[in-house]
Amino acid sequence: MDKSAGKAAVKGIVLAGGNGRRLEPLTSVTNKHLLAVYDKPMIYYPLGTLLNAGVKDILIITGRDHAGRFLKLLGSGGDLGCRFSFAVQDEAGGIAQALALAENFVGKDNCAVILGDNIFEDDFGGVIGDFRDRKGARIFIKDVPDPHRFGVAELNGEKVINIEEKPSNPKSSYAVTGLYLYDNDVFSVIKDIEPSGRGEMEITDVNNHYIQKGLMRAHFVKREWTDAGTFESLYNANRIARNIELAKS
Ligand code: G1P
Repeated sequence: MDKSAGKAAVKGIVLAGGNGRRLEPLTSVTNKHLLAVYDKPMIYYPLGTLLNAGVKDILIITGRDHAGRFLKLLGSGGDLGCRFSFAVQDEAGGIAQALALAENFVGKDNCAVILGDNIFEDDFGGVIGDFRDRKGARIFIKDVPDPHRFGVAELNGEKVINIEEKPSNPKSSYAVTGLYLYDNDVFSVIKDIEPSGRGEMEITDVNNHYIQKGLMRAHFVKREWTDAGTFESLYNANRIARNIELAKS
């Protein structure tokens, strides 16, 4: 019998809050994830990553200042063949704090979480589809020239043994990208986490919890990836987005 029979597909969560301070004045009057990246608002790219993987039930979490703009842009999801729900994070308090708002939405299912400024060329349909009835968590890592800007994976062979958030002396050149798969335990894991030195509930602490329990697996991102939270990475995001679009035509 198919083990996944009766199990719903993973739920999708796009995190699109935050202040986007590193992009001011571009973000002075709008949300970072609504900025143009090549021919679309930024959030369309992480949404595309989920939709291409067959994730159709998606919660968008954003800040209160611009929440209405997301509704106006995305509507019910009918235009894209999916269903959107919306949640508001009153004040930016970290990725894990935002994710906690998804507990009721996720219900008893597993979830795929993506940061709204992450742009991937890879198609993750296989691994995301397969995760619906798995335990534990998955991260997606990428060899980068500037690892100190990210969560950095410390590796033993192909196994991740620890993650450090934005270390000044990175132990490897592997960035932890902003795509994560979690089983339903993630919400109780978040409840046990304390704010970091910068006052945020860090997704890296959630991931280290799964690593310590032996429940984390890492996948290597093969094609291009970037975030878009700085001027340079936003510029690079436009280049990658253009390549993605041209490859379709
Ligand atoms: C966040 C995470 C970091 C991750 C990055 C990927 O950082 O904290 O671990 O590597 O996203 O985009 P942020 O850019 O939100 O500071």
